[in-house]
Amino acid sequence: MKEVSLNFEGLIYYIEDEEMKQMEPAVLAAHDMLEERTGAGRSMLGWKDLPERITEEEIAKIKVAADKIRTQAEVLVVIGTGGSYLGAKAVIDMLSDPLYNMQPNSKRNGPQVLFIGNNLSGKYLRSVIEYIEDKDVAINVISKSGTTLEPAIAFRILKLFMEEKYGISGAAERIYVTTDAEKGLLREIAIKEGYETFIIPHDVGGRYSVLSPVGLLPIAVAGINFEDILDGALFARHMFNVRKLEDNDCYKYAAARNILHRKGKDIEVMATYEPSLQYFIEWYKQLFGESEGKDGKGIFPAGVTFTADLHSMGQLLQDGKRNLFETVLNIDVDKSFIKVPEIENSRDNLDYIAGKTIAEINKVAEKATCMAHMEGGVPIIEINIKELNAYSVGQLIFFFEKACAISGYMLGVNPFDQPGVEEYKRRMREMLKRD
Ligand code: PA5
Repeated sequence: MKEVSLNFEGLIYYIEDEEMKQMEPAVLAAHDMLEERTGAGRSMLGWKDLPERITEEEIAKIKVAADKIRTQAEVLVVIGTGGSYLGAKAVIDMLSDPLYNMQPNSKRNGPQVLFIGNNLSGKYLRSVIEYIEDKDVAINVISKSGTTLEPAIAFRILKLFMEEKYGISGAAERIYVTTDAEKGLLREIAIKEGYETFIIPHDVGGRYSVLSPVGLLPIAVAGINFEDILDGALFARHMFNVRKLEDNDCYKYAAARNILHRKGKDIEVMATYEPSLQYFIEWYKQLFGESEGKDGKGIFPAGVTFTADLHSMGQLLQDGKRNLFETVLNIDVDKSFIKVPEIENSRDNLDYIAGKTIAEINKVAEKATCMAHMEGGVPIIEINIKELNAYSVGQLIFFFEKACAISGYMLGVNPFDQPGVEEYKRRMREMLKRD
């Protein structure tokens, strides 16, 4: 069933129906480049097929490893950066209890999941090591290239920690490696040490890899039904492959952002009213930032979590430079049912909302903010998600991956490479070798 849809009411002042229709040839050209594999980066289109390419054996292997980790560890430490951690973190945050990691073992649906190797903070790493010292631990180190500095440093330290704690063979029982099938130092280490390995397909780039073992293993360890995510993505793969602009919400979204961009809107602000989507927005930022930002082009992907950010970014959004548009991730159903209590003679002036659920009030905040921002000159795209569950999250992931590919081709860039990322790495290596 379709769980993800679009609402363009917030664009009425900004995009005419006719302008949208005029985008159809460009959208269909992008569709054909993807389908016929004639566009830039054509060797990196494996992400499109992940939901149907995964075999029964691969699913079983992930389940067996996840079950083993769930029995052997109180904490799973995931080592990876960029596309090698953001998807898993986003999905676990969206589909688990907001205080998942803080719950006692008896209440939690799996081990705690901690992410390291995505920064160079000694303070953070020290703190994680001290935290896991007296706990049972498993590690999933994820790096396609096997050479990325941040996860490589974290893994060197954690490998030693595990070997000191469990012995070399005991550590090998608890270290799981996700990397390229053939290339890379991480594969060499995994073979030498006898670690269990999972493959990142050679034709899937990091930021498009959440539906491969990169995302699926940590997600499964957290007790989330990853097959439902794959089912949702598979449905989306068909639904968002329709070669007709007016019948394809994913293509309409890609077209709308490109029209707005041509009209001087250089920033897309992805907004959520649900804090558990914060990392989904981080994932979106990486997906679009690395895919579109090149050759002097690109829409800057930003993110806000409302209502918190209404008290920090609200002023700028309402009243600042009109070079942005807002994309709101609207979740229709919130089943938390927590209410503002009715209290007699209360002096807090809240009687006018007594009896309403927080979810109802949040919805009103969302409607009121959209109206205010629209009137303030901000075009608004609304992406509706019926309810947050594994199946709808699968659809949402595929929706954005496909939209990003189409939007990137429409912009005239290769959405599947990231040559710019190498620049800082080269300089950093030079400086470290020089010191
Ligand atoms: O999208 C990408 O390719 C990157 O963001 C990578 O995911 C990130 O740099 C990590 O790379 P690796 O998995 O090779 O360590």
